[in-house]
Amino acid sequence: MKKILITGGAGFIGSHVVRRFVNKYPLYLIVNADALTYAGNLENLTDIEDSPNYIFEKADIKDIAAISSIFDKYGITDIIHLAAESHVDRSILSPFDFVYTNVIGTVALLEVAKEKWKGEYKSHLFYHISTDEVFGALGDTGLFTEETRYDPHSPYSASKAASDHFVRAYFDTYGIQTVVSNCSNNYGPNHFPEKLIPLMINNIINNKPLPVYGDGKYTRDWLFVKDHAIAIDLLFHQGRAGETYNIGGFNEWKNIDLVNLLCKQMDEKLGRQPGTSAQLITYVKDRPGHDRRYAIDASKINKEFGWKPSVTFEEGLSQTIDWFLSNKTWLEHVTSGAYTSYYDHQYENR
Ligand code: NAD
Ligand code: DAU
Repeated sequence: MKKILITGGAGFIGSHVVRRFVNKYPLYLIVNADALTYAGNLENLTDIEDSPNYIFEKADIKDIAAISSIFDKYGITDIIHLAAESHVDRSILSPFDFVYTNVIGTVALLEVAKEKWKGEYKSHLFYHISTDEVFGALGDTGLFTEETRYDPHSPYSASKAASDHFVRAYFDTYGIQTVVSNCSNNYGPNHFPEKLIPLMINNIINNKPLPVYGDGKYTRDWLFVKDHAIAIDLLFHQGRAGETYNIGGFNEWKNIDLVNLLCKQMDEKLGRQPGTSAQLITYVKDRPGHDRRYAIDASKINKEFGWKPSVTFEEGLSQTIDWFLSNKTWLEHVTSGAYTSYYDHQYENR
């Protein structure tokens, strides 16, 4: 029986991974360790919180004593590591938070795994969830492959790149079995409204300006979060130790085109005249160090395991908007208090 420690399980992607594993693998014990920062929210998991194979532990991954005692208490056999500071704009405001959690926190987890699994590394897996941002920026053409040289530009991506290097170093040096996956931009239910899509949905609902950075022609490759969770499930069970896998949506959008599509879908769903929400679009000062384009070549995971996205972007976006419109209390809870001061600081005078 596997006893899997999922870190960051109360966050956006983590909650979808926890739900999938709890429901699909009743014989596994799923231990969700999360520090419940501003981005962690147990309301993301109310549907599975009473499942017999699920346990929540409030813990900081930097706290070696706390993580060690979780290992001892449950006999942790494997780790799926998602806990991180994840927002680029916040990393520009407070880089140290990203070094502490993403770098030091990852090394702390690796150290606990190294100690607790000593002598039996081959029977345990440390699966590290990373991002395509470590590869830097593309021009108008080309794709990131698993061989693309790391070239991070933001404190966030630099901290994720450092954590990826440490994970690989523990494979090479100590023989800890590791898998790393680098995924493109996720979207879907439970997405925290500091990121582009949920922020725009929230602002459209509230008739607030839609702040598009720079010329709006920055490009991202979007993947529905449940498809990322499916890929993580596959790689956890079948990924080869020491390997890296890229995960992407085959779905590139310029930000301004995406925001216009969102406005169109939301006008329909909210019963507004076509063109109403698009009038809220406001070009604002650019993000410093803004990467022009990300695009993933996900052919390795596709060829090895047959994985590909299961929903089209239009379907996924429509499901996402529907989720936000039917979960207004969730949205109100996460946008009250500290969110308001972050938002004012980030967007005033922009
Ligand atoms: P998120 O910000 O929504 O959630 C992060 C979670 O980690 C939160 O629940 C938070 O409470 C927890 N956490 C933060 N610091 C912690 C600490 N020190 N100890 C324990 N828990 C802590 O992030 P997300 O968007 O769900 O991203 C999850 C992972 O996936 C991250 O590693 C991120 O780098 C990676 N990723 C995200 C995307 C994306 O588009 N969101 C794409 C590729 C990779
Ligand atoms: O590529 C994967 C990464 O995607 C993840 O590793 C990160 O955790 C995740 O936050 C995301 O990073 P991005 O910086 O690409 O996502 P964000 O939603 O912040 O921004 C997407 C694009 O939209 C980017 O070009 C900046 C732009 N943007 C963003 C915000 C918040 C705006 O134009 N206006 C905004 O208000």
